[in-house]
Amino acid sequence: MTAGMQAAIVGTGFIAGVHAHAVRAAGGEVAAVLGSGAATTASGVRAMGARRGAADLAELLAAPDVDVVHICTPNRTHTEMAQAALAAGKHVICEKPLATSVSDAQRLTELAGEAGRVASVPFVYRFYSSVREARNRIARDAAGPLWLLHGTYLQDWLSASDATNWRMDPALGGASRAFGDIGVHWCDLMEFTTGHRIVRLAAQLGSAYKERHLGDGTEDRTDPGTEDGAVVVFQTDRGAMGSVVVSQVTPGRKNRLWFSFDGPDASYSFDQEAPDALWMGARDQNVVLMRGTEVFGQPASTYSRLPAGHPQGYQDAFNAYVCDVYAAVAGHAPDGLPLFADGLRAAVLTQAVMDAAASQTWIEVPA
Ligand SMILES: NC(=O)c1ccc[n+]([C@@H]2O[C@H](COP(=O)([O-])OP(=O)(O)OC[C@H]3O[C@@H](n4cnc5c(N)ncnc54)[C@H](O)[C@@H]3O)[C@@H](O)[C@H]2O)c1
Repeated sequence: MTAGMQAAIVGTGFIAGVHAHAVRAAGGEVAAVLGSGAATTASGVRAMGARRGAADLAELLAAPDVDVVHICTPNRTHTEMAQAALAAGKHVICEKPLATSVSDAQRLTELAGEAGRVASVPFVYRFYSSVREARNRIARDAAGPLWLLHGTYLQDWLSASDATNWRMDPALGGASRAFGDIGVHWCDLMEFTTGHRIVRLAAQLGSAYKERHLGDGTEDRTDPGTEDGAVVVFQTDRGAMGSVVVSQVTPGRKNRLWFSFDGPDASYSFDQEAPDALWMGARDQNVVLMRGTEVFGQPASTYSRLPAGHPQGYQDAFNAYVCDVYAAVAGHAPDGLPLFADGLRAAVLTQAVMDAAASQTWIEVPA
């Protein structure tokens, strides 16, 4: 269905490699790669099996053999690149956060609508079969009205006092670090899976370290101005309450995106570090529903690509995501594709969290 799609990948780091695998899994090819300089472009071409490197963004966007541009660079570069890609008539996958301000995310969403191109943001956790199964059961009201939505997104890769990254620096990563980087994934997953929308929230931001290296190669330590973690409490449009704890300094938790969505008759729980299982709690018995078995219905089974007992993981979810983007480019309408409007939603929530933390008050979240 999506064979032959030609991709260009901008960026040569962690997520660019994940995109390159996903392009091929979807039957596409990596036509071109652009890194931050000639040497990274050359090594990126080799690592990602691309046909060629591009000299700059203008050359990459002018290439007639490129259908889809994948933007996999630091956050602050996204707006300009996505805008240029849409102006060049390309379909765009722009990494999250779509933009580091609401106004930029709004503009990009409008431009994508005007351009009539597929414009997507990789909220990739939507593409686990177990998440789709939870969503399906919740939509069937199998849990009763959800009243409590809670969870965590915990990592430890910034736990060491000398750990650093471009995300530390607001000039590259944006004003919010932990929430803007991973909290938005949790909120997207919650709203996608439950159908609830956050309408009010209160938040606290905090850090394990007052001073950090900014990742610019100097020895200096300074207050980075970006948070190690966030605690957010919220209310939804359907009358539920919830909370999420977000941290990049929780030793031992590598990528623990976990949720529990609770109704009076059942609760559904998912752990990204063991994504083949969906835990279902009930008053009389708890059940672990396993991906690939008959208890999973449609459309969840569509996202089960391997037989049960053959674990699927993050790359498989990413493959399924890119496959759906390319299906959309080919004129199909896959359910649950995260679009620029969802990236805008994440920007709105990020701003609300920062405003709530700064004012120490409840904030109304714009629809
Ligand atoms: N959807 C997800 O699950 C997910 C996961 C990880 C990262 N991300 C997002 O992907 C983006 C990249 O993150 P990462 O972890 O791969 O970072 P990274 O540091 O591993 O890679 C960033 C890459 O961008 C390159 N780069 C920087 N400026 C550039 C420019 N002007 N032109 C071309 N290349 C440039 C760097 O050389 C580097 O190769 C971020 O926005 C991040 O939020 C999303």
